[in-house]
Amino acid sequence: MTDAGRHPNITIHTLSEVAEVKGYVGNFDVKIVKKARYVNEKECTACGDCAKVCPVVRPDEFNMGLSSRKAIYSPFPQAVPSAYVLNPNECLGNNPTVCNKCYDACEKKCIDFHMSDETINERVGTVIVATGLEPYDPTALDEYGYTRFENVLTSLEFERLVNAGGPTQGRLLRPTDRMKPKSIGFIQCVGSRSARRGKSYCSNICCMNTIKSTLVLKEHYTDMDVKVFYIDIRAFGKGFEDLYTRSRRAGTQYIRGLPGNVEELPDGSLRVAVENTATGTLEFHELDMLVLAIGVEPAPSTQRLQEMLGLQLTSDGFYLEAHPKLQPVDAATRGVFYAGCAEGPKDIKESVTQASAAAARALRLMQKSEISAEAITSEVDPDLCKSCGICAEVCPYNAITVDKKKKMPAHVATAACAGCGTCAAECPFGAITMHHFSDGQIVSQIDSMLEEKADEKILTFACNWCSYAGADYAGVSRLQYPPNARVIRTMCSGRVDEKFIWEGFKNGAPVILVSGCHIGDCHYIDANHWTEKRIEKVHKKMEKLGLRPERLQLEWISAAEGVRFAEVMKKMEELRRSVSRQEIAETIAVLEK
Ligand code: FES
Repeated sequence: MTDAGRHPNITIHTLSEVAEVKGYVGNFDVKIVKKARYVNEKECTACGDCAKVCPVVRPDEFNMGLSSRKAIYSPFPQAVPSAYVLNPNECLGNNPTVCNKCYDACEKKCIDFHMSDETINERVGTVIVATGLEPYDPTALDEYGYTRFENVLTSLEFERLVNAGGPTQGRLLRPTDRMKPKSIGFIQCVGSRSARRGKSYCSNICCMNTIKSTLVLKEHYTDMDVKVFYIDIRAFGKGFEDLYTRSRRAGTQYIRGLPGNVEELPDGSLRVAVENTATGTLEFHELDMLVLAIGVEPAPSTQRLQEMLGLQLTSDGFYLEAHPKLQPVDAATRGVFYAGCAEGPKDIKESVTQASAAAARALRLMQKSEISAEAITSEVDPDLCKSCGICAEVCPYNAITVDKKKKMPAHVATAACAGCGTCAAECPFGAITMHHFSDGQIVSQIDSMLEEKADEKILTFACNWCSYAGADYAGVSRLQYPPNARVIRTMCSGRVDEKFIWEGFKNGAPVILVSGCHIGDCHYIDANHWTEKRIEKVHKKMEKLGLRPERLQLEWISAAEGVRFAEVMKKMEELRRSVSRQEIAETIAVLEK
């Protein structure tokens, strides 16, 4: 942190919040609101004279409330910049007649009660999202007594308690009597691996953090009775199993089972009831202290930043990478990368590895003065564009801008366009051309596929990344499926324009299949949501026209689902057989009216 603060090419904006991000790779305009520190950070020497005289005492957040701080304080010893900060909501000095003590005590006159928030605009080429995590709040799990018993702590509180720079200078003291505990228990998976009682995912770090803590305890207090209550121990990293073995050899007792109840005894110690699932017995353990190994959650700012940058989230609420194996640190939005727990729970080593990878990916883009854009991008014909703004609304990358008031034609930032084609499919005026997948090119494919024996064909649109790959997989796996399927590839199912469907039916297609990635897996953030809406719209129109809506099917097929592709095709063939030549002729007549 100190090194970063001193680096000539790194600017750190502390006490700052990203208020707005506009633009695209190479040209992100970031609006930052820098909160007032009320202390001149360039002049402050962090002598602490101001804090000494400050009469306001508040819990110290850095020490998890286990110690106190003043209304003017240094957030933590290694904070960068090394300057004090004043909390205006706690300070009495906003009205100088009330206090003003810190102002008087500061020799260098660094304190400025009139300082106000500042807006900073930065233009950057790439963005690395490293929003960190939020520790799970165990107050809802009442059986552990976290809110009722002082001697029940979270793992983070315990961490501060045994830290040399913590509130007790590293001495482990029981909160109720400030005596050294003789026994201590750790409860694992608090808030993790249970959808009903927290989060369904494994928080990844808690097992090893507890094992490390047991080793620290056994090293400093050899006679201490240390117990760990767990479901299973996940010691999967390099050297982790070894640490686990060391912890057991040092005398830590591992009990398989999570406690069902914790009671406080008159002397402040805790009685823990647990079903030992290894022995099948109900056990009671009396312990001086209890530590809850709490899980991790996405940082509270995750969703706001997701909206600003047009990112994707997993169902757990963490950021979704562009590809889990091939682009593990890239966001789907070009020029945006992830580091640390923003993308999922991870330990320090993994976070550092990912941060290095994200920095390298960002540098790779920025070392050149220009970047090559995708060939498959959209282009607006200004003569046809009516500035309705639909394209901008559906673009998952915010790559299109339209000035509706000035009636300026839409503009596509080519560097930001990823080529899904949703804009072209949604434009009601046919003003957008999707290069390499233009209307003309796709309509020609439909026409030629249905030129002969149209009633025997299954017209299929498949997205490049999932369904087309699924078809390919079915082929290389030698799976049998009807040979009359005719597949048209589009980059995304979002490109499948309503007019392609009508063109197919007009040309005598008995059935049409539109297929794409499963919802949440679309290669273009959420473009397939628009596919879904569009197909619903077409179904309604078909009903109105007296056509059977089931003749148009929408299916999500992933690249690994070759078997599913073959099954869907078999069902489509059954459906095709149910469509008579007369029905096809009637459809053509209705559509040509
Ligand atoms: Fe497959 Fe969008 S990329 S549906």
